[in-house]
Amino acid sequence: MQFGRRRFMSALAAAPVLAASATALLSGIARAADADGLLTRPLRGVDLPVIGIGTARRYADPADAAALAPLRDTIHRFTELGGRVIDTAPSYGRAEDVVGQLVQELGVRDRLFLATKVGAGTREEGAAQIEDSFRKLRTDRIDLIAVHNLRDVDNQLALLRDLRAAGRIGALGITTSADQQYAAFEAVMRREQLDCIQIDYALDNRGAADRILPLAQEQGIAVMVNLPFGRDRLFAATQDLPLPGWAAEIGATSWAQVFLKYVLSHPARPIAIPGMAQVRYVDDNLGAARGPLPDAAMRQRMEQFIDAL
Ligand SMILES: NC(=O)c1ccc[n+]([C@@H]2O[C@H](COP(=O)([O-])OP(=O)(O)OC[C@H]3O[C@@H](n4cnc5c(N)ncnc54)[C@H](OP(=O)(O)O)[C@@H]3O)[C@@H](O)[C@H]2O)c1
Repeated sequence: MQFGRRRFMSALAAAPVLAASATALLSGIARAADADGLLTRPLRGVDLPVIGIGTARRYADPADAAALAPLRDTIHRFTELGGRVIDTAPSYGRAEDVVGQLVQELGVRDRLFLATKVGAGTREEGAAQIEDSFRKLRTDRIDLIAVHNLRDVDNQLALLRDLRAAGRIGALGITTSADQQYAAFEAVMRREQLDCIQIDYALDNRGAADRILPLAQEQGIAVMVNLPFGRDRLFAATQDLPLPGWAAEIGATSWAQVFLKYVLSHPARPIAIPGMAQVRYVDDNLGAARGPLPDAAMRQRMEQFIDAL
């Protein structure tokens, strides 16, 4: 039975106290999901849908116009569905340039939250690289820049703080995707004031949940998750398997949604940035930003499932 907000509120009209708390409850739900029904989470005051586009590899080197077409269609569909976050980096071949070109052609800059990285050895080198990022992304404001894999982290964070104070970037952070960097990563989280961290985390790669994700939660730092599928690792592990019955309980209709909903349900409330270069992936992956997420018991069940493969 459809029991919409209007009927719910009119049914409660005779009970003002209950109605007031119902209003609070419903506005809480509305805050958690945007107009397109995508779950959102805040990053330095900006509410962002929890699935973004990662641009490593597939946006690095489109050979010709034919190779650009699926990337254009991907970004178009993504914005059509209410997606906002695109993550790129100067080290991803021509990805920044490709994103800048397509975003300009599609006229969707204002709808997007553009995140890139700095990977440089000195402040001067970092500053020059960031100017290149502005040029390639064809924008005068970059929403987030993170220090890529902690390289020259103290100098680069100082530079990013200056850029943020000048209003040229919206937020700053650090990234890693390597366990060997976790101790150093944690140390930076403890000594710096970061808006965001980006780290690898997936159903079969849970090391970030030991210390880093709980620390982000404790410190109120926004989290982006890279490698949510471990590239093709999780798909390869499950390729011959039908979806388990419990997938329906979390509203997942594909393996990709199972893997993403696991990531999204971590209490640190991350945003995931799966690599997406096909329209069908956009429709599929944004589906993970709708409907229920696994609770703690279901998360445990999912871990047991993958560990047993
Ligand atoms: N240290 C760092 O800062 C760091 C490190 C790594 C990654 N990153 C960021 O994180 C992003 C994500 O990482 P990633 O792209 O390397 O790996 P990933 O997100 O774990 O996997 C992406 C791959 O999964 C496949 N895929 C995506 N959606 C799918 C779907 N619905 N169904 C089936 N297959 C699907 C695609 O494979 P095919 O294209 O082969 O079909 C895609 O290339 C990167 O793009 C990058 O932006 C940052």
